[in-house]
Amino acid sequence: MRALASPEGQLLLAGLPAYDDREVLALGERLRREGLDAAFVSAALTQSRLRERAVGKLGPDAARMLLTQEGLEQASRREVADRRAERLVATVGPDALVADLGCGIGADSLALARAGLRVLAVERDPATAAAAAANVRALGLDDRVEVRTADLADADLAGVAAAYLDPARRGEGRRTTDPEQWSPPWSAVLRLAARVPVVAKVAPGLAHELVPAGADAEWVSVDGDVVECAVWTGGLSRGGGRSAVLLPGGDVLPGRGTPPPRAVAPFGFLYEPDGAVIRAGLVAEAAELVDGWLLDPTIAYVTAERLVRTPFLTAYRVLDAVPFSLRRVRDLLRAHGAGDVVVKKRGTAVVPEAFRGQLLPGLPQRGRGPTLTIVLTRVLGAHTALLVERCA
Ligand SMILES: C[S@@+](CC[C@H](N)C(=O)[O-])C[C@H]1O[C@@H](n2cnc3c(N)ncnc32)[C@H](O)[C@@H]1O
Repeated sequence: MRALASPEGQLLLAGLPAYDDREVLALGERLRREGLDAAFVSAALTQSRLRERAVGKLGPDAARMLLTQEGLEQASRREVADRRAERLVATVGPDALVADLGCGIGADSLALARAGLRVLAVERDPATAAAAAANVRALGLDDRVEVRTADLADADLAGVAAAYLDPARRGEGRRTTDPEQWSPPWSAVLRLAARVPVVAKVAPGLAHELVPAGADAEWVSVDGDVVECAVWTGGLSRGGGRSAVLLPGGDVLPGRGTPPPRAVAPFGFLYEPDGAVIRAGLVAEAAELVDGWLLDPTIAYVTAERLVRTPFLTAYRVLDAVPFSLRRVRDLLRAHGAGDVVVKKRGTAVVPEAFRGQLLPGLPQRGRGPTLTIVLTRVLGAHTALLVERCA
């Protein structure tokens, strides 16, 4: 990492062509023939591959950053880090000093600095800290970010207005869902929150009861994929409670303690809540937006009489409904001339792709007719198949 961060390393990286798997062997050979050290060339080509993979997550900055495989996997997505930084700066004010405790390769530190904050970035892994330091330099933010190689427990928090923590969720290469196995553990994050206001990024599966009283918990999705839960404590909280945040649009659905609606047979429209709405436990709040009802008390599908556009729910027109069985579903698809089928499900053990494989051979119009969508779920407890069409 040090060799790549050196002027010679930066020069080599800047001169490499766009990464191409098919060209990499020949390129490596050419660079070695030109007299470059084999290990140096190999590290540069690995870096080039990581940068190419990182663009979707980190945006154009990726082309100038030093990455490690693990650092990239753990890094926050650009749009999520930017939104968090904007919310933080709105509370603590521009130029405030914040600590990024366990900064990894620095994706969040960069966002915090770009938003106008000063950042004390602490990382205990020396190679990762070296990458973070190289990244703040490469992006011209080294006047706002100081990277220290240290354990976060030893960080001096004097003058720090808020701390950001993104605990590592990997132990021995595997992801761990037990918050006490994270580094730092959730209990340590909460102890720190008693000393300084904290915003913590945690796994979306965090149990609601682990969110401390008075804290805001935001479940965030990007293009419908739930990526994290952010917990804002102390002075960073805006009153406490759960919400769903949908990026890139930035729509926010706050929890209001709405009681769940009754379960009913399907009306003309089926609505599928965004994953962030479901994880935040706000299906009732979302249903209220469309005057909707549940299909089953335990399942996150909403049905309503009218079509209402909202980013929190994907709307489908219900074309038909039959009790669930292979024969009934096949007959339904045949009657509608289906050429292919997409199977969605909620609240049933059926494996969608396997079920599709059973359906396809029975479709006379296979490969010619339209692709139709079947939703397998429970309606008032009964296994049911709905033929639906996504509302444009
Ligand atoms: C999930 S990553 C951070 C990713 C970062 N937010 C980003 O977007 O690039 C967590 C980092 O915390 C570091 N870490 C874990 N425990 C630590 C500790 N006690 N002190 C300092 N760093 C720690 C790990 O080495 C890892 O790099």
